[in-house]
Amino acid sequence: MDQHSFNDLRQRLGDEHIGKRLRAQVDHIVNVTGRGLGAFHYENLPPFLQLLDLFLKVSGLKKIGQRNALQFAVRENHVLFPGLPEPFRGLRILQLTDLHLDGYPGLGSLIARAVAGLDFDLCVLTGDFRFSDTGIYRHLTEEINALVPSLQCRLGVFGILGNHDFIEMVPLIEAAGVRLLINESVALNVHGENLWVTGLDDAHFYGLHDFDKALQDVPDETARILLVHSPEVIPEAAERGFGLYLAGHTHAGQICLPGGIPILLNANCKRQYTSGRWGFNGMSGYTSAGVGSSGIFARFFCPPEIVIHVLQSAAL
Ligand SMILES: [Fe+2]
Repeated sequence: MDQHSFNDLRQRLGDEHIGKRLRAQVDHIVNVTGRGLGAFHYENLPPFLQLLDLFLKVSGLKKIGQRNALQFAVRENHVLFPGLPEPFRGLRILQLTDLHLDGYPGLGSLIARAVAGLDFDLCVLTGDFRFSDTGIYRHLTEEINALVPSLQCRLGVFGILGNHDFIEMVPLIEAAGVRLLINESVALNVHGENLWVTGLDDAHFYGLHDFDKALQDVPDETARILLVHSPEVIPEAAERGFGLYLAGHTHAGQICLPGGIPILLNANCKRQYTSGRWGFNGMSGYTSAGVGSSGIFARFFCPPEIVIHVLQSAAL
């Protein structure tokens, strides 16, 4: 990140937030346990992944898992949204999460091909852009630049950071055409009515989600959607009147037993919130299985998914 971008980010997020995130990023690289919601982070455990990778190779399952990881399921989810302003009825939101774009060469183009022809008004990317790229993020940059042009739509492309994403990736993601929301909100205005989109920094590992900061410019009693990487702050979101909570992070297990039974979910919340659609105190929610793969580029009994949420109004 150049000095100019860093200064911009300092002004936007504040030194305290940047300082905490940079310190935690060092922990992220070196620690397997001890920080964040759910204290075990298997994705930071190279010996575990190496062993699993070896097992898949030896058993001949790796190619099958890789093939599975590239067979994207396209799902439509109809959302009941209390108090939805009339111009947003029928709004179609494309959600892609856990892209881990540098995890497979050409993944950005493959996802772009999979979304081509889909009908959507708004696109949200709910974190974990990165797989393992560091330094100047050459691979990530190539993949994101191959993907984002295919996501352009009338209300824009918004994103949040996940637990795999580093703060220094912000300029490259935004240069590709994604507006990141880091404890920030934006109003979508259609025919004089607003629908607010709020995005939080990662709650799972960094614990730097800040509802108050994110909502400081959002008027009370307005229709609002929350983007947060993990489904771990659901009660707090419901208290703040969000009509829809969109998350990812769990990969729905990614490597599952037959029947889609997850072995690991890596989220500190009840299992009912870790995959697919759910509700909480009148708030609709969806935790996507993700379009990419992390740790090992393979999936079993848990296809990668591309989701389109269609908003419908509901009685208050
Ligand atoms: Fe992820």
